[in-house]
Amino acid sequence: MKRKLIAGNWKMNGSLAANEALVGALLAGAGEPGCEAALCVPAAYLAQVRGLLGNSTAFALGAQDLSAHESGAYTGEISAAMLKDFGVRYCLVGHSERRQYHGETDAVVTLKAQRALAAGITPIVCVGETLAEREAGQTEAVVRRQLAAVIHTNGHCISEIVVAYEPVWAIGTGKTATPEQAQQVHAVLRAQLQAASAQAGRIHILYGGSMNAANAAELLAQPDIDGGLIGGASLKAPDFLAIMAAAR
Ligand code: 13P
Repeated sequence: MKRKLIAGNWKMNGSLAANEALVGALLAGAGEPGCEAALCVPAAYLAQVRGLLGNSTAFALGAQDLSAHESGAYTGEISAAMLKDFGVRYCLVGHSERRQYHGETDAVVTLKAQRALAAGITPIVCVGETLAEREAGQTEAVVRRQLAAVIHTNGHCISEIVVAYEPVWAIGTGKTATPEQAQQVHAVLRAQLQAASAQAGRIHILYGGSMNAANAAELLAQPDIDGGLIGGASLKAPDFLAIMAAAR
């Protein structure tokens, strides 16, 4: 059976001092985790966190975004190859905050996933509906469209991706999808992946959106929830470690 994956998304938080304290506490508390774990940190801190993790196998290093371009005159962008240079194993792609505030379309998200895969980095492809879309009964259509774009271009290696279902209305709001609501969407995503690949059972489908130490176990008990993508609670070591413990 595949182990669950718990990924922390620090978003635009942290400082040299805060990161040192957080990673120190995570390493001290993790022991031999019964799940896979990753820390998706701001690009500016990749080198620091790589160094803090040392040769620990408990946490993989992750980034939060990458360029859709390979290299060249793209001021401010960071390429997949650069992330790989720093030992990055996972990279978030198409987080709703990127789609919402930076105009990332399905086409851009697809290219980014392709760049990550080509560099040997596992893209964590984020999908999810807004509250208006849910209320209009469009949840399934929206997440299927977002995932279809990535499958269309990367179908040959689709079993190498991670998918994260993050309902936009549950992000940072303290409102979590119920385990049943989340499972329903995860089952749709699983079926879509199965139609594209015989290896779809290997793919981790993470839930994200106000997952915390109190609700993690119930969400992670669902058959198609293979882990979590954690925002706020990933900034507090005891909370993140408790979610990891619930993922055993
Ligand atoms: P919160 O856990 O803070 O709701 O954030 C979820 C998220 O967006 C993780 O990528």
